[in-house]
Amino acid sequence: MTYKTKLWKIENITKDVLQIEAAANLLKKLEVVAFPTETVYGLGADATNEQAVAKIFQAKGRPADNPLIVHVANKQQIEQYVTHVPDVAKKLIHAFMPGPLTIILPSNNTIATNVTAGLSSIAIRIPSHPVARQLLEVCQLPLAAPSANKSGKPSPTSADHVVQDLNGKIAGILDGGTTGVGLESTVLDCTTEIPVILRPGGITKQQIEQVVGMVMVDPALVVEADQPKAPGMKYNHYQPDAPLSLIDGDVDFFQAQIDSAIAEGLKVGIMASTELASLIEADNIKTCGSRTDLKEVAVHLYDTLRAFKKSDVDLILCETFEQTGVGEAIMNRLHKAATKKVNQTL
Ligand code: TXA
Ligand code: MG
Repeated sequence: MTYKTKLWKIENITKDVLQIEAAANLLKKLEVVAFPTETVYGLGADATNEQAVAKIFQAKGRPADNPLIVHVANKQQIEQYVTHVPDVAKKLIHAFMPGPLTIILPSNNTIATNVTAGLSSIAIRIPSHPVARQLLEVCQLPLAAPSANKSGKPSPTSADHVVQDLNGKIAGILDGGTTGVGLESTVLDCTTEIPVILRPGGITKQQIEQVVGMVMVDPALVVEADQPKAPGMKYNHYQPDAPLSLIDGDVDFFQAQIDSAIAEGLKVGIMASTELASLIEADNIKTCGSRTDLKEVAVHLYDTLRAFKKSDVDLILCETFEQTGVGEAIMNRLHKAATKKVNQTL
């Protein structure tokens, strides 16, 4: 199926309410529509309708065994789709929702079965982006929504990224400008007594610990050989146009990697912090923020990855960032995006 994809620019949710209504009407007609959230753009469809949800998998080329997150407008709606809300989840909902946290709860099977890929649990979140909130209010539907990128590509942080990947494949795109957090929500399994982080994201482990005390981390996030509990974490993700090597070492080591790739005749692109960028020599350097402000790096991460085109570069060399706070999520994404890791100490 090909579409003439509609693009609605939203500058003000009150003034542009008719555009949001047009998008909501398409969702009610079982079409898929991309919309901004505070993390990344999502590709939404009516989560209660299997046929509508199937269009998401089709448009993205997403494997059917990778379940989707259900987006709802408010806390009461969460209760409609789960068997119960454990106390620890209640605390987290109170502390972080609306916001970049997704919780996994036991499903009561009222949502379309292809949303949960047959699992007995459901992933659910309340986005805080005003356009997403307004869309959920107007359409009065729970929306299944993965990131609105072609499967395997970096997630979209602007409507332009969605156009690059899905133009002609979906009914419409609500353009609410660039997203705030820049990488996806934290996925937290709350079906176990102690919650488990399945995907690091916008809400940090420290923030969650402050609310619920103890938090575990899926061993697959630490030991690569382990099978991840979030089905989607086992697939290739966030891959830029050209192969990416993660370089873990000092400035001289990084420069040596650049020089040897150039000596091999490769066109090299560099993804670096402003600090590293000022110390190395290369033709094509793109900066993604300061090492001292990892939130800024998160905001620019996917846009920078997407900015390298295979027509310009054969190889992308990228530095590593400190794994504290949102740095956990940044490094999780970079490890998945990379085809090679080069470590100075090895
Ligand atoms: O910030 C976000 O979370 C964005 C915006 C659009 O909301 N969405 C997003 O969705 O990143 P997606 O589909 O790209 O990633 C959802 C992740 C996948 O790793 C999936 O496997 C996991 O959540 N997931 C979904 N349902 C699950 C479940 N019942 N149990 C375990 N993991 C689940
Ligand atoms: Mg995704």
